[in-house]
Amino acid sequence: MRVVDIINKKKVGQTLTREEIDFFVQGYVRGEIPDYQIAALYMAIYFKGMNEEEIANLTMAYVHSGDTIDLSGIKGVKVDKHSTGGVGDKISLIVIPLVASLGIPVAKMSGRGLGHTGGTIDKLEAIPGFRTSLTTEEFVANVNKYGMAVGGQTANLTPADKLTYALRDVTGTVDSIPLIAASIMSKKIASGADAIVLDVKVGSGAFMKSLEEAEKLARCMVQIGKSLNRKTIAVITDMNQPLGHEVGNANEIREVMEVLRGKGAEDETTVALTIATYMAIASGKYTDFEATYAELQEIINSGKALAKFKELVSIQGGDPQIVDEPEKLPQAKNHWEVCSGQAGYISSIDAEKIGVAAMLLGAGRKKKEDSIDYAAGVTLLKKVGDYVEVNEPLCILHTNLDQVETNILEAYTIQTAKPEPLKYVHGVIE
Ligand code: URA
Repeated sequence: MRVVDIINKKKVGQTLTREEIDFFVQGYVRGEIPDYQIAALYMAIYFKGMNEEEIANLTMAYVHSGDTIDLSGIKGVKVDKHSTGGVGDKISLIVIPLVASLGIPVAKMSGRGLGHTGGTIDKLEAIPGFRTSLTTEEFVANVNKYGMAVGGQTANLTPADKLTYALRDVTGTVDSIPLIAASIMSKKIASGADAIVLDVKVGSGAFMKSLEEAEKLARCMVQIGKSLNRKTIAVITDMNQPLGHEVGNANEIREVMEVLRGKGAEDETTVALTIATYMAIASGKYTDFEATYAELQEIINSGKALAKFKELVSIQGGDPQIVDEPEKLPQAKNHWEVCSGQAGYISSIDAEKIGVAAMLLGAGRKKKEDSIDYAAGVTLLKKVGDYVEVNEPLCILHTNLDQVETNILEAYTIQTAKPEPLKYVHGVIE
């Protein structure tokens, strides 16, 4: 078999066989196929798509590229959650301690930043000492003992996704339904969760810009989950402005703790409680949406959720003091205000443009080898619906760089009439 024949086949929209998919996935992981051939093939998939069977085969090829975790020895239904990627999206870090506080085991497999979106693993690594590369044994032991664990793919889980994820990030092949579906579902299946809640983002800062595309991706992933006997629920949530007020890494950790203190932004808190509620429902332990949502809100109000977050930081080697002293998190040396040139109501904030600005400040990667500046990011002082005066600050840029050119002002649309409030949750697919 030759990779070039597989590329040519997909280039004209033909269906790839399971053998062909296994061949290029295994060959790439073994280092026998160069980046440029996979990049070309993925660009062909981007344009020509894949049918349901091809997506399922790609998912399973990723799963079989490395180890899988068997959580069957742990009592209860183990739940996992994954987002398709957003800007300021710190929902995972809020729901892990929240759901674990209900006594539901959370086995969370996460990724790094991709394109203009952030990644849970990068955010956690902003906490001094926090270890995201757990061995399979540690991951299982932590879920067993503490009811929660969060890990990246370094424990030889889905190495095919790890490699292709980094390649897609820098070759313009992220926003493809089959590639996102296989990437996400392979991680969830390999990490052994029984139930999965997917946060499918839609809007200017999401890979899926329209509700129609988001629903298609959601259905595709729910179908893969169903075919593999994993209870899968997809919640479609809004990404027409960044979530909350912080975009970056260390500053997002600070905001997570604010939400867990009950002082979070309304959009962030609503989406986090909604996703956590569906995780509880997916576990089978809870059935009533309103009652579960209220119970989770009470867990925040009582301080239990923040204490559980502190425990998570501590068990994975991080400095738990950051919870009481958030100033211990990395801080940038420069903080520049960006002021509005006009007065009026903010009607939209292009989340992708904010994500790109954060990346240029150092919070994300331009090339896959790049390292991250955990202190870099953007603080949004105004959100959609807020009024701004001329010369009033819209946001603050944090960076250790001495000079950065961003077009962040272009992210804002300001109008004289107050806009309709944004909807935070657009629908649920089970
Ligand atoms: N998140 C993932 O894990 N994979 C993707 O492809 C996109 C978002």
